Amino acid sequence: MKWTSLNDLRESYLSFFESKGHLRHKSFPLIPPADDKSLLLINAGMAPLKKYFKGEEEPPRHRMTTCQKCIRTPDIERVGKTARHGTFFEMLGNFSFGDYFKKEATAWAWEYLTKVLEIPEDRLWVTIYQDDDEAFEIWNKQNGVPAERIIRLGKEDNFWEIGSGPCGPCSEIHFDRGPGYGCGRPDCAGVTCDCDRVIEIWNLVFTQFDGDGNGNYTPLAKPNIDTGMGLERLAVVMQGVNNLFEVDTV
Ligand code: SER
Repeated sequence: MKWTSLNDLRESYLSFFESKGHLRHKSFPLIPPADDKSLLLINAGMAPLKKYFKGEEEPPRHRMTTCQKCIRTPDIERVGKTARHGTFFEMLGNFSFGDYFKKEATAWAWEYLTKVLEIPEDRLWVTIYQDDDEAFEIWNKQNGVPAERIIRLGKEDNFWEIGSGPCGPCSEIHFDRGPGYGCGRPDCAGVTCDCDRVIEIWNLVFTQFDGDGNGNYTPLAKPNIDTGMGLERLAVVMQGVNNLFEVDTV
């Protein structure tokens, strides 16, 4: 893996997914569409695309990729305290609206990280939703991730939803920055430790439900994919810097 600027990472990601048949779309505004009353500000790459996930509107293409400007406030108390939390960030994402699903989404994520960015496989960990045996098989058999590097976690960690809207079980990819960045405790839990050693870089959501925000889930007509990778976090990894505020753009 070699030092790569933030701007080059953005371009490399978007062109990689264009090469996989995705339509590149520029970032939507931070202000949600007028008909989305569920959000004050756009908080994820998928947020401006909800109508396509729900099948309410036909997308310009069933595969899209964006680098979406986001503001996310649930983590605001952690900003400045950890290396990895920010309120404003850009989110790289590739989306399938009833087109490809888990096999392609995981294979392309692995290809992008390990072949394009040349991140060593032994610095990556994968988490899956506790009951998702299908995701386990795909990561292990299709993508060659060793079983001991695939961790099953519960709903709090591996089911993605914010408020109401399209949601589903997810699978995250984490990067081990090395012991120098961690809590230093002999019993550091790695992926599940809250320290800055092993950090989540990419979330692959298997969007299968429309949630009402109160724990009720209606299956969507077709399964979808919604992935999100924080551009600044990826730059932290690729530039080997301490935190989000030290990355170089050019
Ligand atoms: N919606 C998911 C997230 O924001 C993946 O894009 O993490």
